[in-house]
Amino acid sequence: MLMPRHTDITHGLTQRPARISPKYFYDQQGSQLFEAITRLPEYYPTRTETALMQAHAHSIAGVVGPGRTLIELGAGNCQKARTLCRLVQPACFVGVDISADFLEQAVQGLRDEFPALDARALAGDMTLGVALPEDIPRTGRLVFYPGSSIGNFDPPHALGLLAHMRELIDDDGGLLIGIDLPKDVAVLEAAYDDAAGVTAAFNRNVLTHVNRLIGSDFDVDQWQHRAFFNHQESRIEMHLEAVADSHVRWPGGGRRFEQGERIHTENSYKYPLSVFTAMLARAGFAQAQAWTDERGWFAVVHARP
Ligand SMILES: C[S@@+](CC[C@H](N)C(=O)[O-])C[C@H]1O[C@@H](n2cnc3c(N)ncnc32)[C@H](O)[C@@H]1O
Repeated sequence: MLMPRHTDITHGLTQRPARISPKYFYDQQGSQLFEAITRLPEYYPTRTETALMQAHAHSIAGVVGPGRTLIELGAGNCQKARTLCRLVQPACFVGVDISADFLEQAVQGLRDEFPALDARALAGDMTLGVALPEDIPRTGRLVFYPGSSIGNFDPPHALGLLAHMRELIDDDGGLLIGIDLPKDVAVLEAAYDDAAGVTAAFNRNVLTHVNRLIGSDFDVDQWQHRAFFNHQESRIEMHLEAVADSHVRWPGGGRRFEQGERIHTENSYKYPLSVFTAMLARAGFAQAQAWTDERGWFAVVHARP
């Protein structure tokens, strides 16, 4: 069901337990905090994925091929696109992200580094469907979805999103996607609850953003960060937990939260590679080739229709 943003947020807040979609993490401040997370010693995904792409640069470049139209979903600071552009020299780049100003700055950085590249910023919520500009070539597309961001969706939604990616490409297209694999729980939990408290600040910032979006009066200091691995669902969960009883109001509504009550803000599913490639096949990507690091922590997968 598609809902306007205000209704989407208030609907989630009035559920029991309450929830806020992780897409609301990303205002300008949230995007900057995420960038800081990627540099934390505990946050292995970014450096593992980047190292994988560098270690297998020739083989990835060979499979993808040059001159593609590169479409990155959730492009963020476009740092990984930069690495990929050096490898495969695409003719055109479209970065899609919900964090409009941050994306525009990042795409400008790409234009500065690759003056011959036709680089576009497409701001929007990709879960509502990605509508590419009409002059973006239909053939030779590569959808790039790094960072294991697919893990933020529960499996039925992840499957739907992969099927949408399949619709974005022709039979000659491909998908290059990063997947965080199951691993030691201590490693996983530290990555989402770092010692410096950056992930906590990132999690709490969602309330500042929500206050601005719907006019609510969350007192951010009254919420603490919680992150843990849910074994049954094979996912990291992030929550905000009320430090004290409170009543939160927004125009047209509000609700009471008791001390210890939580708002669920993010899931990050960890799929075994075989489970994920089966999901790719169901979404219309029959052929997959994967590269993994020595520890088996992360995979970069190239898939074809
Ligand atoms: C976990 S970060 C990953 C950033 C970058 N791709 C990387 O791998 O480091 C998720 C990115 O997706 C964007 N994003 C989150 N939800 C989105 C949505 N529904 N539509 C478009 N972009 C979204 C965020 O703004 C953020 O830049």
